Amino acid sequence: MQTVYGIKAHGGKLINLEDYSEAAQREAATLPSLTINNWNLSDLELIGIGGFSPLTGFMTSDDYHAVVKNMHLMSGVLWSIPITLPVSKAVAATIELNSKVALKDASGTIYGTLRVEDKYVPDKQLEAQNVYGTTDTAHPGVKRLFANGDVYLGGAIKLLKQPDHGDFSDFYLAPLATRKLFHDLGWKTIVGFQTRNPIHRAHEYIQKLALENVDGLFLNPLVGETKADDIPADVRMASYQTILKYYYPKDRVRLVIYPAAMRYAGPKEAILHAIVRKNYGCTHFIVGRDHAGVGDYYGTYEAQELISSVEDELGMHFFKFDNAFYCKRCGAMATQKTCPHGADDHISLSGTKVRKLLSDGIVPPKEVSRPEVAQTLIDGLKRKREVEAHA
Ligand code: ADX
Repeated sequence: MQTVYGIKAHGGKLINLEDYSEAAQREAATLPSLTINNWNLSDLELIGIGGFSPLTGFMTSDDYHAVVKNMHLMSGVLWSIPITLPVSKAVAATIELNSKVALKDASGTIYGTLRVEDKYVPDKQLEAQNVYGTTDTAHPGVKRLFANGDVYLGGAIKLLKQPDHGDFSDFYLAPLATRKLFHDLGWKTIVGFQTRNPIHRAHEYIQKLALENVDGLFLNPLVGETKADDIPADVRMASYQTILKYYYPKDRVRLVIYPAAMRYAGPKEAILHAIVRKNYGCTHFIVGRDHAGVGDYYGTYEAQELISSVEDELGMHFFKFDNAFYCKRCGAMATQKTCPHGADDHISLSGTKVRKLLSDGIVPPKEVSRPEVAQTLIDGLKRKREVEAHA
């Protein structure tokens, strides 16, 4: 039994369902199997390593409906986004209730098992409305929800193999390990930072404001599935490494991947993001403007407002930041809370604009992106294009 250091996990206990023994693999190989996609595989992994504590499997209908309707599990623990395993009706018909199935990826590698405790038809309209705040299929999360199979399988899982994190393997740690790492570093207060974008000056500003107040920064970029026009995870990872090298004190930051898929569920996802970082051992979490948002589906500070309403249940501290920008007259990064000057003096570019500049090979203003970071991104995107052209 390994020691679980640090803050209490969500729901009270850090879950661990890893069993990487040969015997477990051998047994799983004898079971009927089910092919799951990368999204579900990343959920399987997060349940298995305890990132999604207190979940011990894919949600059964009781928990699913409780989460969709009341944002809580049946046990009463706060939970904001259903973690489910959708399959087609045809596949569901071949799977027996109370049977055990092996979960494999498209190549046939077995990653886990599921005890099928429940097969149920979800209420996707309600799920879309309550989790994403919209039933519009132009929303990437909603689009995905409706494209998924129409039956959900629920039940306890085991994680039998660690998914391969490829180039990111050096940046992979499970919650037990990050907790030990923080303990060994002597960090008592740790702020978690979620991101799915290349690091820019506003990110750096809010991270460093937080870092002035805590022992360490846990930089935890999401590297699972994102929408097609987001910057690829490997290019983003390179940008984080560059900024850490030139602009951050080495002993106060750790870069670790968050292997989950991005839901774009705004406020509800902000809660999930906070819960997971608590499970990784963070005592604090940053929520800036339009956290986990997409398009105009959420108000700029809606995620902060929802978090504020459940802060006690989350049992961690939050740094909530207004929209940050560079002010020419202040000669510094600022927000409306600290800068008296008007929009004409402010420099900030939308993510879309920055992505366009970068893919055209143009370095964005240094007030928006550190030049070394911009160059890393331009080079990374160029390499991607070359690889694609030769594919
Ligand atoms: S997210 O989808 O992962 O939230 P992103 O990587 O852009 O997207 O943001 C990471 C975190 O930084 C979020 O908490 C977000 O609210 C915050 N953030 C991003 N840009 C700004 C900004 N200009 N001002 C304040 N907070 C910001």
